[in-house]
Amino acid sequence: MDKKHYYITTPIYYASGKLTVGHCFSTVLADICARFYRLNGYDVFYATGSDEHGLKIAKVAAEHNMTPQAFVDKTVDEFKYIWKRLGISYDKFIRTTDEHHVKLVQDVYDKLYKSGDIYLGYYEGLYCVPCETFFTESQLVNGNCPDCGRPVEKTKEECYFLRLSKYQKFLEEYFEKHPKFLVPESRKNEIYNNFIKPGITDLCVSRTTFDWGVRLPFNDKHVAYVWIDALLNYISVLGYGTNNDADYKKFWPADVHVVGRDISRFHCIIWPILLKMLDLPLPKQIHSTGFITLKGDRISKSKSNGFNPLTLVDRYGTDALRYYLAKEGPIFNDSPYMADQFINTINSDLCNDLGNLVSRTLAMITQYNSRVIPEAKVKSADEKTLVDACNDLLATCQKLMSEQKVNDTINAIFSVVRMANKYIDITEPWKLAKDPSAKDKLDTVLYHLSETIRVCSTLLQAFMVEIPEKIFTKFGYTADEYTFDSIKEFSYNHHGHTVDKGDNLFPRLDVKKEIEFLDTPNTPAEPAKNEIKAEDKANTINYITIDDLDKVKLVTGKIVNSEKVEGADKLLKNTVEIGSETRTIVSGIAKYYKPEEIIGKTVIVVSNLPPRKLRGIESNGMLLCAVDEKNDKLSLLTVDLPIGCGSEVC
Ligand code: ME8
Ligand code: MG
Repeated sequence: MDKKHYYITTPIYYASGKLTVGHCFSTVLADICARFYRLNGYDVFYATGSDEHGLKIAKVAAEHNMTPQAFVDKTVDEFKYIWKRLGISYDKFIRTTDEHHVKLVQDVYDKLYKSGDIYLGYYEGLYCVPCETFFTESQLVNGNCPDCGRPVEKTKEECYFLRLSKYQKFLEEYFEKHPKFLVPESRKNEIYNNFIKPGITDLCVSRTTFDWGVRLPFNDKHVAYVWIDALLNYISVLGYGTNNDADYKKFWPADVHVVGRDISRFHCIIWPILLKMLDLPLPKQIHSTGFITLKGDRISKSKSNGFNPLTLVDRYGTDALRYYLAKEGPIFNDSPYMADQFINTINSDLCNDLGNLVSRTLAMITQYNSRVIPEAKVKSADEKTLVDACNDLLATCQKLMSEQKVNDTINAIFSVVRMANKYIDITEPWKLAKDPSAKDKLDTVLYHLSETIRVCSTLLQAFMVEIPEKIFTKFGYTADEYTFDSIKEFSYNHHGHTVDKGDNLFPRLDVKKEIEFLDTPNTPAEPAKNEIKAEDKANTINYITIDDLDKVKLVTGKIVNSEKVEGADKLLKNTVEIGSETRTIVSGIAKYYKPEEIIGKTVIVVSNLPPRKLRGIESNGMLLCAVDEKNDKLSLLTVDLPIGCGSEVC
């Protein structure tokens, strides 16, 4: 049978500056849905991208002394880097400067101009540049933009209009017939009653006062209004209007457009009417999220009060941020970001509930059953609650996720995690372990714990990108043991694996210290990295670019002589040949190697460090070593096969 399809989108973000945790919310929310549906057997298309045209971007680029194109190129690289760090699994990233997108925008204008839905007129109004929106006098708040509170500019220009008013009745009826077209209901009522019912007016959809935009095919003095340009991304990303439109045929109409509440209006009025004008089907649902607020204000890049999401990922890991956003994020209504809540959530849910369940279970299997997951021998009433909960969990999550309720879903999974912890407290396996006649019961308890962890972690794969895999590795589960099919019901077949306890999943955070760190607004990512505790570091990846790596010049060198440095127990003074050059390199390895042991070895040298003096000897470079601090061992890095000295290491 053909797989079912699922198409989900995020807004395409303005390439005008840095992304905040607020922007990350929509993208993480959509990513969790995309991952869940993939695991659930659907053919998924997840699209995101960048909104790159308009006056705002032209202005910001000029402030940076850059061309708009160079500026958006740089910004898009930053976006993609953030999405990578957050584990965002988008299938395509659409840029509104992509050639095929630009062509589609032009084709659409052409078509609508010919059909009469676009006509030439004259506009006089109040324009908010950052919001790219016209307002009437009465819509202003204290004379300023009602959305961002900044001053508006009086603008008068010749412009093309989109005949939205003609579709008034169509849209009203559509809303009445599709009560779930916009969720949540409160927002639907607001938009329907305040913006649709009172009468939709024609919209000015071209600009002549700047030129950073898509030129209209029938009048090149005009560029397209950014919102028409931007909304069309949802079909251009699928290849609509090109020869390569298989994805469009397969995935349109979208299942869900995830958008923030400030832009729901555009998605619920302009977008459906535009599609109707083009005679295309409408998306099934607009999911309008709330805002993440900080001290009462929306976290935003233009108000510069945004936390850098990379600071949080660097310090606490991708999964901690994803978990927090899923659990506490503004799925429908605004929710405040609070440092204490963030830290306490990590400590109580991830470290205590999940982390402890996994580490206690692994410790007991290690101690009581020689690391092997035992078979369940008895099935008593103690187990029933847990088994029932596991049996219901997949269906519960499927139902909740069909409404993008990531918060209720994660809570449902964690309630089973907590149930399993309670099951340990009730059955007291450490007592069973002392009584040889209770071995069957002990095995049963250990099995039920492992199985519950398997079921929960399988579902957690939609939410987290590193932890579930770590858990599967610790328990020795193979790929077919963490599919949704494999957790349809509680199974008794997953015993016999050898477990490996290893490190804890989440280190416990020092609440006071972390809150202090987070309460300093706009903490840049750099200092955070340096402050990170050694044990946390193992759980975080601080990515470097290939250019960073390129800066380090590594070459092979042959040690032709080595001697102890007088008066220094740790140092050896080595003479190293690098190609035709001979260098003196002083290394702190005397505790681990005698000079005669290393003479003749081909080693790896960092060759472009500045010279420095150690005990009066000038040292020119560094020998790379592997260091095992725990066991106080050190090993010089050498090469596997004979190779000439001075060879590049890359
Ligand atoms: O609006 N909390 O782009 P954008 C939650 N280019 N969501 C937030 C937020 C916060 N604090 N701050 C911003 C645009 N957002 C257009 C979209 S789509 C065809 C074009 C959300 O970069 C905001 O609500 O200004 C919006 O949905 C999204 O981030 C992109 O914002
Ligand atoms: Mg915005």
